[in-house]
Amino acid sequence: MGEVPGSWKPNNETLAKANAVMDATKASGDLYRNGLGMIASENIISPMVQKIVASDLHGRYAEGLPGKRYYQGCDDFDTIESLGISLAKQVFGAQFANIQSTSGTVSNIAALKALAKPGDKITAVSTADGGHISHARMGAVGLRDLDLSTYPWDIDRMEPDIDGACKLIREISPKVCLIGQSVFLFPTPLKEIAAAAHEVGASVMYDGAHVLGLIAGGQFQDPLREGADIMTGSSHKTFPGPQGGFLLSSSEDEKVQKRLNNAIFPGVCSSYHLHHVAGKVVALAEFEEYGETYAKDIVKNSRALAESLAAEGFDVLAESRNYTASHQVLTRHGDIDSGAGAKAAKTLEDVGIITNMNMLPGDTKALTPSGLRLGVQELTRVGMGKTEMAEVAKLFARALIHNEDLNRVKQDVKNLKSNFQTIRYCFNEEEQSGYIL
Ligand SMILES: Cc1ncc(COP(=O)(O)O)c(C=O)c1O
Repeated sequence: MGEVPGSWKPNNETLAKANAVMDATKASGDLYRNGLGMIASENIISPMVQKIVASDLHGRYAEGLPGKRYYQGCDDFDTIESLGISLAKQVFGAQFANIQSTSGTVSNIAALKALAKPGDKITAVSTADGGHISHARMGAVGLRDLDLSTYPWDIDRMEPDIDGACKLIREISPKVCLIGQSVFLFPTPLKEIAAAAHEVGASVMYDGAHVLGLIAGGQFQDPLREGADIMTGSSHKTFPGPQGGFLLSSSEDEKVQKRLNNAIFPGVCSSYHLHHVAGKVVALAEFEEYGETYAKDIVKNSRALAESLAAEGFDVLAESRNYTASHQVLTRHGDIDSGAGAKAAKTLEDVGIITNMNMLPGDTKALTPSGLRLGVQELTRVGMGKTEMAEVAKLFARALIHNEDLNRVKQDVKNLKSNFQTIRYCFNEEEQSGYIL
């Protein structure tokens, strides 16, 4: 027998490159295993979802919809996707669900493709007030060449100024009224906005990327019953699945549903990452079982964290509204545009607490903002509760207010996290041999 194809001893230099990736991947895992992941857009996947994500489905294609494929070999995936569509409709209370989108941004691009034509008007929250880049001219809104007007913002309530938003909608008659933010503390009073939008013939698109798990768990708001025609979202934030997106609608109209499906494929996806879609379906099944409790625990924890941070002496935003009704908490660390948020995020990283700097009302520069945006969905997922939120706030204070030796604080972060290494609110908890990375 000759040489086995593709199997010779590798060159040390090429192998070193691959090993560098393996090492950095492991180091990144260690950072979160030993630290506190508090980025509001992130989460960790369950053991079963992890297995699916690493499966052979990774390399496969299934363009089209269940039963209507362009390739052979899709029968098993048809079973998965059909189950997923019906589960997604059930979990999100939707009449229509497409589960193929590869991210929240892709869902937004598809929704805008289905709902508007180039040159149409759209209203949305500005990025300075917490809107996502895909709601801006630099992102999906610009990609579709839409004419953007942003809602006035109510700084005290940290939500769109509802009267001003309705007035804007009635004045300019947009094609799409986009609601939802990346900085999302409180439910948006959607009924009033939807009434104004529908009066002028606009569609209401609710971007639930951040709060999808809270919505599905019945703990935030119910956009599809409060007037939203379309709901988009990520499958990996408060909804704790693998990276991906959802496109959901309250419409029973088959023509609308077909337009939405076509906007995903062939519109913006060809391969749509079957391993992630299957992972989403398992995450939906897990959510059906544990989601309501998980969502309740997240909101309890974010309130507890906000109260504890305020008690430690931090400036926590929206005190008059009890700080938060979502998974997020906002803190201000210095003057507007001072970069104090960036500095705080770096110090926290030095002790193993991973957060992100964030613009707060008044800030004008994304790279030197005054604040932090914190999320508790990941800490909740590994079983932390009110007591731990108080401990986390103390660790913040030791690092940021009392200027304690950062190595000592880091050790205590590691000690705290060592007791929270099992992923909760999922099947097969008992099979875990530790934090899955
Ligand atoms: C409101 C909002 N929409 C969309 C997205 C994009 O989601 P993805 O990262 O899944 O593309 C984000 C990301 O954080 C977001 O905050």
